[in-house]
Amino acid sequence: MPAGENLDYRLLLDAAAAAARATGDQGHVADYIPALATVDPDAFGMAVATVDGELYGIGDWEQPFSVQSVSKLFTLALALAHGGDTVWRGVGREPSGNPFNSLVQLESEHGIPRNPFINAGALVVTDRLQTMTGDAAGAVREFLRRESGNPLLDTDPIVAASEAEHGHRNAALAHFIASHGNLENPVETVLDHYYAHCAVSASCRDLVLAGSFLARYGVRTDGTRLMSRSEAKRVNAVLLTCGTYDAAGEFAFRVGLPGKSGVGGGVLAILPGRAAVCAWGPRLDQAGNSVAAVTALDALTTLSGCSIF
Ligand code: DON
Repeated sequence: MPAGENLDYRLLLDAAAAAARATGDQGHVADYIPALATVDPDAFGMAVATVDGELYGIGDWEQPFSVQSVSKLFTLALALAHGGDTVWRGVGREPSGNPFNSLVQLESEHGIPRNPFINAGALVVTDRLQTMTGDAAGAVREFLRRESGNPLLDTDPIVAASEAEHGHRNAALAHFIASHGNLENPVETVLDHYYAHCAVSASCRDLVLAGSFLARYGVRTDGTRLMSRSEAKRVNAVLLTCGTYDAAGEFAFRVGLPGKSGVGGGVLAILPGRAAVCAWGPRLDQAGNSVAAVTALDALTTLSGCSIF
């Protein structure tokens, strides 16, 4: 990444939003969680928070949406901050090459999920955070509120209930992991906290502020350290290789940044040493990543020449 160069984020956001708009009606809104299907498919927002505290946004950047798997970045960060390397005893850090909700690898890999961002891995991380804090979803919400300065940020109970009602696959994953002795808490507790953190509603604005500790190599918005520089490097590395599931190769190719997607249509990406960037558009591609958000991030890094490569 060109060092010391000032980027015109306003201009870049304009260009990124235009590229996102040009994707039109490509992709489909997630409907396997019925409450997610009520969103406006044409919504689009994007925000940037720089390490120096500047904030930029375009479109629906202040409108809350369901963060879904973007929350997994925060569960992992908090579990590592509380428990350090112990987390890696129960979950791997290799790309899965499979869909985010796949069951197949768990059987051959004895209940140790491939990485913390597929659903199986996120269930294990949520379980460990539950052991460490006594309230995994509460810890995630509290962190998001503090970093974003938005005290209203919360779980949407309708989305959480909809996930639970249609959560047979996640329940199957959790029971299978438990059968291998890789859960410390009851399956129902783990699922409740997992749904509650996935069903948090937050805006692009909230997420760039909350994710900017990774752009500052582990330092929070108030200047205190959440994790060591080396741990922040590791989280960014796992985001790059696993954060967008079986499309992580394509995301690295197009965008060239560590990033985490969610089926609510949000993608949070990190420009280490510079900024956190979040784009949101509800229409998803086959891998469950937002078509508009990935296109917008692709435009931003391609036009600025600024990526980790
Ligand atoms: O468990 C689920 O299926 C959802 N709560 C989260 C999945 C998700 O966001 C995958 N990301 N693209």
